[in-house]
Amino acid sequence: MESRKTRFTRWGFIFATVGSAVGLGNIWKFPYITGEYGGGAFVLVYLLTIMFVGISILIAEMFLGNYGKSDAVSTFEMIGNELPEKKPSMRYLGFMTFNGLIIMTFYSVVIGWIFYYIYSAINGLPTTVSEAETEFSTLIGENIWTQIFFHTFATLTILHFVNGGIKKGIEKLNNLLIPSLLVIMVGLLIYSMTLPAFGDSFKFLFYPEWDKLSSEAFIRAVGHSFFTLSLGMGAIITYSASVPNSINLTKSALTVGFFDTVIALVAGLVIFTFLFQYGEEPSKGAGLVFISMPVIFSQMGEIGSVISVLFLSALAMAGLTSAVSLVEPAVLYVINRFNMSRFRATISMGFVYWLIGIFAILSYSTTYGETFSLFGKPIFDILETTTDSLLLPLSGIFIALVTGYAIRKVDLKKLQIEMGDVMFRVWYFSIRVISPIAVLFLMLNLFGVIEL
Ligand code: PFF
Repeated sequence: MESRKTRFTRWGFIFATVGSAVGLGNIWKFPYITGEYGGGAFVLVYLLTIMFVGISILIAEMFLGNYGKSDAVSTFEMIGNELPEKKPSMRYLGFMTFNGLIIMTFYSVVIGWIFYYIYSAINGLPTTVSEAETEFSTLIGENIWTQIFFHTFATLTILHFVNGGIKKGIEKLNNLLIPSLLVIMVGLLIYSMTLPAFGDSFKFLFYPEWDKLSSEAFIRAVGHSFFTLSLGMGAIITYSASVPNSINLTKSALTVGFFDTVIALVAGLVIFTFLFQYGEEPSKGAGLVFISMPVIFSQMGEIGSVISVLFLSALAMAGLTSAVSLVEPAVLYVINRFNMSRFRATISMGFVYWLIGIFAILSYSTTYGETFSLFGKPIFDILETTTDSLLLPLSGIFIALVTGYAIRKVDLKKLQIEMGDVMFRVWYFSIRVISPIAVLFLMLNLFGVIEL
């Protein structure tokens, strides 16, 4: 077993967990789904879910990691063995660890697109929307090798840091990138506040128009709140296995939730200000940052290329720090279970997602798209929606239930002391009742069993 004596420092842990949470989900996905689902009402549902369900499960995941001090599979197995009726089979719940590799199949491809766009921004930006659209659709539909090249480059960068382990790889990467990311985002926010369209952007995000909220939007908001907080795949459990003992888990979870939400809102404010300023539509979908933004940057004149590279670098930093947390849980599991060296574990897990990532790339191509589709949907989309709307929420319910029912209340003492009695009761009720029921309802709705 890999020793968990190599621990994060207190700030190292906060940066790494913020790094895991703040990712493409905040800067790429949150603005475009908010745009697709009409703004304010979607944002409100998202914020409420983060507050009442997300943070509770985040605290539960941190607790489980700190309790088990090992990979997610071993932690669930240990908890099962502690039950009066001994249930080692609970370890199967730990296989949620592999959700991270499934996410990585498309996450790494998108980081590859970002690398490509940084390279392309340095060489000049598209000046019209149709030019930008052609660039994006050519990249995705035709330039398979370019995508494979950048996906491979992203993979090697990520694996390099995972191979360094908790201290020399993951902590180092986060301590460098997270402060840089924060500085860039604050800079972009200040710049966008100087533009007249800032007010419209603010209104779009914070004034709910209820008639735009469909039940589909509701499910996306809940699914996304799991994705954005990195819940339901053992990432937080794995990182929390290496926290210093004295750390306050509740405060850490609140800090992570706070930064994650603020960065998503700042990204939204910045992107929608730019969009409205240049008369663009917010509902462009996944291409928002790759089609609309480059044109806007080019219209800004001189400063545009600088802002473009800064914005894309922030996106790349956010992506990389999340990616290491998506790979590490599976790597740690393989090291512990199969007694593999970290190097071999990293390479083999990396190879698995890299290969499936190539199928995801092919599924968007004009030539091979049909071959790499299932039920008429590209594999890329299937991988994304299955994790987002199904696997993460489902694993989230298990985490809430295990913490709420399989852990003895006396063992939750640490949290009770941190929170105080009243808050603890609210949290306990949330993970035993509110969170599982809320998520279950949404899943039933997703499968058409009930109509919301
Ligand atoms: N939270 C990351 C984001 O918002 O992009 C994605 C993610 C990372 C999801 C780690 C799940 C995870 F375990």
